[in-house]
Amino acid sequence: MDAFRYRQQHLLAEDVALAEIAERFGTPTWVYSKAAIASAFDEFAAAAAGRKVLVCYALKANSNLAIVDLLARRGAGFDIVSGGELERVLAAGGDPSRVVFSGVGKQRAEMRRALEAGVRCFNVESESELRRLDEVAGSIGRRAPVSLRVNPDVDAGTHPYISTGLRENKFGIAHDEALRVYRLAASLPNLRVVGIDCHIGSQITTIEPFLAALDKVLELVDALAGEGIVLEHLDLGGGLGIRYDDETPPSRAALLQAVFGRLDRHPRGAGFEVLFEFGRSIVGNAGVLLTRVEYLKANGDRRFAIVDAAMNDLMRPSLYEAWHDVLPVEQGLPREADTWDVVGPVCESGDWLARGRRLAIAEGDLLAIMSAGAYGMAMSSNYNTRPRGAEVLVDGDRALLVRERERVEDLFALERRLPDDAAG
Ligand code: LLP
Repeated sequence: MDAFRYRQQHLLAEDVALAEIAERFGTPTWVYSKAAIASAFDEFAAAAAGRKVLVCYALKANSNLAIVDLLARRGAGFDIVSGGELERVLAAGGDPSRVVFSGVGKQRAEMRRALEAGVRCFNVESESELRRLDEVAGSIGRRAPVSLRVNPDVDAGTHPYISTGLRENKFGIAHDEALRVYRLAASLPNLRVVGIDCHIGSQITTIEPFLAALDKVLELVDALAGEGIVLEHLDLGGGLGIRYDDETPPSRAALLQAVFGRLDRHPRGAGFEVLFEFGRSIVGNAGVLLTRVEYLKANGDRRFAIVDAAMNDLMRPSLYEAWHDVLPVEQGLPREADTWDVVGPVCESGDWLARGRRLAIAEGDLLAIMSAGAYGMAMSSNYNTRPRGAEVLVDGDRALLVRERERVEDLFALERRLPDDAAG
């Protein structure tokens, strides 16, 4: 669903004008649509109806408590990669028994906390991690449920920074090592082998890489069964892409149907519970970054629109050269169209949000940076001592403040000046 539309030349989030949100909450502000998030999740849930499926929302995409809360109430599970994300799930009322704990660098204290909370599964990424988890679980008298994250060596055909399923990536356990590590897992006293996991990358816009990875996973499942290691679930990770520009990713239902089709052709495929770890495809198109044009200027033959959002807010363009659409919040104003680079105030040439865009704008205008719901606020920083913007969730005709704008004094509240005797 498209929750951001023009009505009488005003750009709305559901039924609230973005201009009104800027007025009330200032800029830059992240604006999310509750209906868009809910409908994305519900589409997965509907496609999975009648199957044993748990759709875990990958918190890293956007971990605002209101979003976690909304998804928890709709029955989502959660994919976390840190103890911090676990605390967010718990604070938002999420059910720890629906949480999978991924990530290559889990620390002992994080493992202990997750065991005590009763997470559904640890997705283990190395032999050392497996041994450490066994030891931590033993020390508190628990058995840790584990999956091994296998690296299927499949090319997801996506940006190299967000492709994770190739042999040369740091992620997972190499396919040809997996059997040996599973045997070890099955032999360790404080572990219980429950599943297998893979995640091949993000912003994947075709179905084939998912199926190729699934085939590799099923090969291993068979080999494991031959050794008496029987799994309960397959976790196929996340990675379904969204439309930023002219991409044509498969629908959520099409991806799930293709996966189920492949599983149904496997002799025991239908017996497994299937887990997914989707982030971007649930929240990506459900959010925008609302910003105001501060200055227009020309340098040589380039024209720059300097806005009040920057790379510290939305890092994706500078980090991945990612493309986000830019829309004027008000249409039909008396302005000449020109070609603009939309840039922020940060002191880096890499601080741009969009380049070479045809826009009819003037100083003071509001712009919406589209498809910023995933990996936007979640990846932001305070570079240049810039307080991060507010987050607002729109629900029909209501705009709910779900994170206050940071204040400058918050940014250095944990810092200390020198004591007098060290100041000289
Ligand atoms: N599971 C694991 C183990 C992951 O590493 C990720 C994403 C996901 C699930 C969720 O993937 P999604 O469904 O959102 O594609 N910052 C980058 C994306 C990094 C993705 C990292 N891992 C970006 O802005 O494009």
